[in-house]
Amino acid sequence: MSHHFLRFTDVHYTYPNGYEALKGVDFFISHGEKVALLGLNGAGKSTVLLHTNGLLLPTSGEVNVGGIPVTKKTLRTVRQSVGMVFQNADDQLFMSTVEEDVAFGPLNMGLEGEEVERRVAAALEMVGASDLRSRSPFRLSGGQKKRVAIATVLSMEPSILVMDEPTSELDLEARRQVCDIVRAFHHTCLIATHDMALARELCERAIIITDGRVTADGPVDEITAQFEKTVAHN
Ligand SMILES: Nc1ncnc2c1ncn2[C@@H]1O[C@H](COP(=O)(O)OP(=O)(O)OP(=O)(O)O)[C@@H](O)[C@H]1O
Ligand SMILES: [Mg+2]
Repeated sequence: MSHHFLRFTDVHYTYPNGYEALKGVDFFISHGEKVALLGLNGAGKSTVLLHTNGLLLPTSGEVNVGGIPVTKKTLRTVRQSVGMVFQNADDQLFMSTVEEDVAFGPLNMGLEGEEVERRVAAALEMVGASDLRSRSPFRLSGGQKKRVAIATVLSMEPSILVMDEPTSELDLEARRQVCDIVRAFHHTCLIATHDMALARELCERAIIITDGRVTADGPVDEITAQFEKTVAHN
């Protein structure tokens, strides 16, 4: 696992239907920082996250992961560094057992045998889901699915963990477990959330996206307070 920064430089993105969702996004996140991404519905948070591992490529501008610009050619490398947890765990789970889903990333990276087994066991252990290993992902509860979805990303040993609304739909216990997982992850984290308490609990810094642009970036207490004030006035 190497040490990677994440940099967006004047990133614009227009969806195929012509809607310009990102209108020049700039930020720099150093290795080890935990950053919350805040913004109203439709502000562009998920669109930003989808750019971090090349699921979307900028219409113009650059996304750079540890010195590597995210392009079609670098996708494989970038995806080994940036692990993305989708808002909906069902979008991330597609094999017939939990262990196959968690092994999928490492196998896809060309790893074999014992190393894959070591990673699967470690990732399931980290999310407290070792007992679910032989189960079908489709027959798990929402919180269990979320934990397994996180394990499918941790098994790739990413140096940047990106999460979209990681605790929405979770009960308090599952929420606490997700928080523990993030705290135990000693690398960069970028977390889109509407949950200000979660942002303050996990992150030292927050960025606000408003209508496809960064409109605030700073210490989490200051920025969440500012965001709450803006929302209250709307
Ligand atoms: N596939 C798509 N095609 C066209 N427009 C899209 C698509 N996905 C999102 N958008 C639009 O892009 C804008 C940003 O959407 P995005 O999903 O990034 O917002 P968000 O900040 O994640 O919102 P939320 O808090 O609701 O998750 C919205 O106006 C949305 O309608
Ligand atoms: Mg979103």
